[in-house]
Amino acid sequence: MEIVDIQYNIKNETITKLFYQADFLTFYKSIVEKRHVVVITDENIYNCHEDKLQFVENLMVVDAGEACKDMDVFQYAIHTLLDFEADRNTLIIGVGGGALTDFVGFLSSIFMRGVDFGFFPTTLLGAVDASIGGKNGVNFGVYKNLLGTINQPKFIVNDPSFLQTLDISEFKNGMAEVIKYGCILDRELFGYLENIDLEVIVNDLECLNYIITKCQAIKINIIEKDVFEKGDRKLLNFGHTIGHAIEMSNHFPHGFSVAIGMNYAAQISEKLGFLASEKRERIQNIIEKYDLPINQPKSCDELWQMIKGDKKKNGDKINLILLNDIGSAFVHPIDLEDFKSILQSIIN
Ligand code: GLY
Repeated sequence: MEIVDIQYNIKNETITKLFYQADFLTFYKSIVEKRHVVVITDENIYNCHEDKLQFVENLMVVDAGEACKDMDVFQYAIHTLLDFEADRNTLIIGVGGGALTDFVGFLSSIFMRGVDFGFFPTTLLGAVDASIGGKNGVNFGVYKNLLGTINQPKFIVNDPSFLQTLDISEFKNGMAEVIKYGCILDRELFGYLENIDLEVIVNDLECLNYIITKCQAIKINIIEKDVFEKGDRKLLNFGHTIGHAIEMSNHFPHGFSVAIGMNYAAQISEKLGFLASEKRERIQNIIEKYDLPINQPKSCDELWQMIKGDKKKNGDKINLILLNDIGSAFVHPIDLEDFKSILQSIIN
């Protein structure tokens, strides 16, 4: 496969040299001729794709999943970069899902005050969301993403062969964020998703590519205008305030938690009179169509303990992202007490 520069037209500007479609080895070989490269991946990816990764000269393999964001892995990574004689001109390539790209983005941002980095997302969630936007971070003890920066990758490369080894539940996990883009900004994407199903997405590469590039264009369009989340970037948090609380208290995967959070946020939008009930039903139906959950078992009080600690809370108010139509979201500041009572009416 050759290296194809994916061009996204963003409000009259064309984003180039950021998104590519390429096979990992072709891309790696084209870069390693020109500069010192370190590739970081995790154990699971390495086991599934040893055929390609074994050719990398400076390869670091870390623990899979959230474990790679622990401080001891971080220290190990710095030692390994020094062993590889990394310097300020080194390029670090992260090959993995959302946790790995969070970790590599942060490591690259602070090593020698920052070196260039780029990603090969290996999950649907990573390709449509986690690899884009520049937020990165690692955990500190129990504190998730306590240490982090916002720093953009130099490139993001779609190599479909990584997604081909994914488990079906990983596709579902990513579909929650895809559905989110349809709900908040793109009615056409929402309608498209209503007319296909998970089996088509998993088996039809053209359809998968369409979804990935569509979502990447939507997200980068927002990031280009609002890197530091002062405006429209907030809309990307649809389903996430409640979703994060669900994720932390139930230990559900991110996408599954966001799916429930979106269902609750759509119900709140309806209860507050912003969203017509048949549109709220369409949102619930599409979440269920992609075999994602719409409810969780914890009591409202248990979730509330987590929501109270949300870092986006502002005094006694919190910004909820609500819908007034499919494809149309807005920021709704709400008193915490009002939020709690409306959540109680949904959950209990
Ligand atoms: N890295 C994900 C984001 O910035 O939204």
